[in-house]
Amino acid sequence: MEEWTRKDLLGLQELDSKEIELILQTAASFKEISTRAVKKVPTLRGKTIVLFFFEPSTRTRSSFELAAKRLSADTLSIATSSSAIQKGETLKDTFKNIEAMQVDCIIIRHSSSGVAHVLAKCMGPSIINAGDGCHEHPTQALLDIFTIKEKKGHIKGLNVSIIGDISHSRVARSNIWGLTKLGANVTVCGPKTLLPKDIEKMPVKVTTDLAEGMKGADVINVLRIQKERQKAGLFPSLREYAMRFGVTTEKLKNYAKEDVMIMHPGPMNRGIEITPDVADGKYSVILEQVTNGIAVRMAVLYLVLQAGDDEQQEQQ
Ligand code: CP
Repeated sequence: MEEWTRKDLLGLQELDSKEIELILQTAASFKEISTRAVKKVPTLRGKTIVLFFFEPSTRTRSSFELAAKRLSADTLSIATSSSAIQKGETLKDTFKNIEAMQVDCIIIRHSSSGVAHVLAKCMGPSIINAGDGCHEHPTQALLDIFTIKEKKGHIKGLNVSIIGDISHSRVARSNIWGLTKLGANVTVCGPKTLLPKDIEKMPVKVTTDLAEGMKGADVINVLRIQKERQKAGLFPSLREYAMRFGVTTEKLKNYAKEDVMIMHPGPMNRGIEITPDVADGKYSVILEQVTNGIAVRMAVLYLVLQAGDDEQQEQQ
């Protein structure tokens, strides 16, 4: 099996296919732990993991916390509202103080792209990117890819369509890198104003026509429409967006494969980008994505902390 050597997990753009496969294989071996009556193994006993979320989160934060606890690590959640950042302390000073408390890993979500990369360069503990601005959300894409592989048996050759606000989506970017490295054909679909300007530089097919975006797809990953973007005039109204790009049973019947798999990273705007009958329907794997998130994050924590230990031993 390929060795994992990275102390940090910052994005999928920098990983190769073997590294992604290693995370998926490790996650598969951890998944069973969460089905036991006693959902705990001693793998990371004695390790301290800090969760620092500068943006709201339900899934990612609780999933990382449960993953760490199921591996017997100690966890500390810091709320930005009660941290000294509110008193004007710089991000770097805050993190250097956390580092001085001998922690092993910091999981960070931040609204600015690149924050995790900057911290990783100047910090000893492992840094895991839990979403940075519009840049990457690597563990979301890994759990998406894990779920697709579990359901479809493989990734290579599959047609995966990502529908919605591609421009502002870190989930879309991480999925594009991860899926294409494993040999999937990725199509992105959304209004022209919600497609990134440099999208042609990415290894994807692009369309603004929902019927074309759905046609031939084995998997459709529906993205949250970020309501706050409406103020910037990027689409006329939520009603019009729902009419043109909302995924409904009728549109799936008309345009998509009969057994198409429906995904959504959450949180969902029911009735806007996806109708409740699709979200809760028989082809939806949305809650299975959430379940798989724990196994994937257990794998990531295990691999980066093991690599961090190896790096420290080499330095001694
Ligand atoms: N998918 C996702 O990142 O959800 P949260 O914002 O709830 O973490």
